Amino acid sequence: MVDPINQFDRSNDYKKDFPILKREVRPGVPIVYLDSAATSQKPESVIAAMEVYYRQLNANIHRGVHTLAEEATAAYEGARERITNFIGARDTRELIFTRNTTESINLVTQTWGRSTLKTGDLVILTEMEHHSNLVPWQMLAAEKGLRLEFIPVNDDGYLDLDVYQQLLKLEPKVVAFMHMSNVLGTINPAREIIRMAKNAGAITLLDAAQSIPHFTVDVNEVDADFIAFSAHKMLGPTGIGALWGKRTILENMPPFLGGGDMIKKVFLRSFSANDLPHKFEAGTPAIAEAIGFGAAVDYLVSAGMDRILQHEQRLVTYALEKLKRIHGLHVLGPDSVSAKGGVISFTLEDIHPHDIAQILDSEGIAVRAGHHCAMPLHERFKITVSTRASFYLYNDEEDIDHLIKGLEKVQQIFR
Ligand code: ALA
Repeated sequence: MVDPINQFDRSNDYKKDFPILKREVRPGVPIVYLDSAATSQKPESVIAAMEVYYRQLNANIHRGVHTLAEEATAAYEGARERITNFIGARDTRELIFTRNTTESINLVTQTWGRSTLKTGDLVILTEMEHHSNLVPWQMLAAEKGLRLEFIPVNDDGYLDLDVYQQLLKLEPKVVAFMHMSNVLGTINPAREIIRMAKNAGAITLLDAAQSIPHFTVDVNEVDADFIAFSAHKMLGPTGIGALWGKRTILENMPPFLGGGDMIKKVFLRSFSANDLPHKFEAGTPAIAEAIGFGAAVDYLVSAGMDRILQHEQRLVTYALEKLKRIHGLHVLGPDSVSAKGGVISFTLEDIHPHDIAQILDSEGIAVRAGHHCAMPLHERFKITVSTRASFYLYNDEEDIDHLIKGLEKVQQIFR
């Protein structure tokens, strides 16, 4: 019988495209990067695209009539077009550049939410949310007197959809949730959750920060009203993200930040807002970063999203199998690859995750330790912190072997 763990080709062609993965953390200690859920590494092509902008195209966009301004504008808007296509959307007016997922969600709460929701309106979130999809709603709830309810997470790390069904009877105005948990790795059934929300008449927001980088997300298929994501988790630069929204909703929303580019006309006491998407992009945007974002999408398209998903599932299967053999190690969330992305959080005996992460770092292994911006979720599992290893296309089985050896060293030290 074929050994399910050792049947794979252990080489990884992608690694060579990421210059940082060639460095040593300390002399003789190569980097083993297992923290892509926090931020991904960047391929040479993304770094080069941003350099080309600064070396050859640098000018402000949408303003000048000179050659550089026109070329910079074309590069920026070209990136918007490629990112729009990448998520299966058809209309570039629906793709708004923001700073990151957090800002995309705040844009929705502060414009759509503030202008639409009224005292007593119900917002449904989940117990597994990242703080970025909790705090903006809490802030709006405090301001407007909204009610918040939460879909619970069961012991296996899945959302309890029976309770959700009951909550929908309370006629929520909004259902906002994460597609994939940055702690448990759980991939939520987004399409189903959104279909149920729509039947109840709610507007939906999908936090796709951890999903769009790792598998195909088609906006038409999931059918959310708003989708938020960040470039830096999908091989692109920091400082840029996107909000995709349905045009009819975006058109009726008031602007977010006021200033240049988001206006059509300005008088001393009033203004008229620009057309989409510029209405929501005040001031000089992150031009180089948008171009880098576009190059990241090109890289992902050429790698193939289905291949990336398969590769990560293979790594998760391999890692779970090996981690299960470590005495005293407890994996949070689904322990099956069918509904789990490339994120594995765990506790190891009663060893503090900061100690674990520090010892792993001495071996060149980068993991995240802490609450991973999901304090309520940790509380749900009666812990305060955990250690998290997360994978991307440039990881391979050898990286996981290093992690396992590192964890064995942690246990030896603490014994
Ligand atoms: N949201 C990122 C994480 O989970 C920062 O690490």
